[in-house]
Amino acid sequence: MFYGIVTGGGDSPAINAAIRAIVRKSTEQGNQVMGFKNGWAGMVENEITPLVREDASGILPTGGSILGSSRTDPFARKDGPKKVKVAYQERCPDGLIVIGGDDTLGVAHKLHRRLDIKVVGIPQTIDNDVALTTFSIGALTAMNEIMSSLDKLHSTATTHHRVMILEVMGRDAGWLALMGGLAGGADIILVPERKFKISEIKRRIQRRKNVGKRFSIITVAEGATSPDIGGKVVQEEVEKDDEFEHARLGGVGDRIHEQLKDKLNMPIRVTRLAYLQRGGSPTFLDRVLATLYGEKAVELCNQNNFDKITAAHPDLLNIKAVDLQKVVDNSPRCIPDSLLKTKEPFW
Ligand code: F6P
Repeated sequence: MFYGIVTGGGDSPAINAAIRAIVRKSTEQGNQVMGFKNGWAGMVENEITPLVREDASGILPTGGSILGSSRTDPFARKDGPKKVKVAYQERCPDGLIVIGGDDTLGVAHKLHRRLDIKVVGIPQTIDNDVALTTFSIGALTAMNEIMSSLDKLHSTATTHHRVMILEVMGRDAGWLALMGGLAGGADIILVPERKFKISEIKRRIQRRKNVGKRFSIITVAEGATSPDIGGKVVQEEVEKDDEFEHARLGGVGDRIHEQLKDKLNMPIRVTRLAYLQRGGSPTFLDRVLATLYGEKAVELCNQNNFDKITAAHPDLLNIKAVDLQKVVDNSPRCIPDSLLKTKEPFW
């Protein structure tokens, strides 16, 4: 059998762990694996590299993707889909394993439907917003990074009696802010799923002060919004190298600072975690999950079971196949109301 791998969209830790599992399992069974470089660009531009067992050696603890990534949309390029089809037919006619978030998986589904390309997806994004799986690979490591950053901010916040604002990624979903914030003991967590009010933030900080807490920690998702700060804070309307035409978010922490500074008699500092939460070595569970996802993806290819993603739901360690159509229809997945309700004291 000839299988291919593409890694697309924003990178995250544990992609290499998934590549390693795919290569090891496939080559053990006598199959050949081809890697396409830099996301869908590698299929359109025929940039490829064969992957043998040695290529997958030593990559388990590494961040990023050994194949590179990009936000290329073949459907936005002249003859893009046709070129992808040619690359697929020549290099991996028995199955293409696609590792990425909702954009990348959306392209995979279209390629299957329109060009009959045999695809299996592996959910990968720190945003954790791919539907119908509990965790996408990379998200757990990013949450851990946020938790560690909050631990560090706590010690300096308590020493200097400050309000610390930590801005994290996540686009239109608040998973990173909520999970990282809960684990790191943030006092206020602001997510895109609930509009916040500056007056409420002020009230909570004041209330903490009244009971002797001379510091407060806020975790805010980059996509969190409020009429008080003029809506969502965008750095770039359309990101230049993003063919899916997303706006680049960032700066909400500074806006909150501006609004709060004259209302609180406390110093405020803002930290934007940015790409530090996306890089580095994957944590324990991310490595395990990526390995299980990679093995399951090969199994699905062997069984001719395409147009699916590997999903950890409801049981994290019992990976299932879920229809890509359903995933596409329900992504991006935001925090459900049921979970938001239980966390009401945070916003
Ligand atoms: O989708 C992952 C993500 O890290 C988002 O959280 C963030 O908004 C975006 O990518 C940043 O994109 P880029 O890497 O293109 O700047």
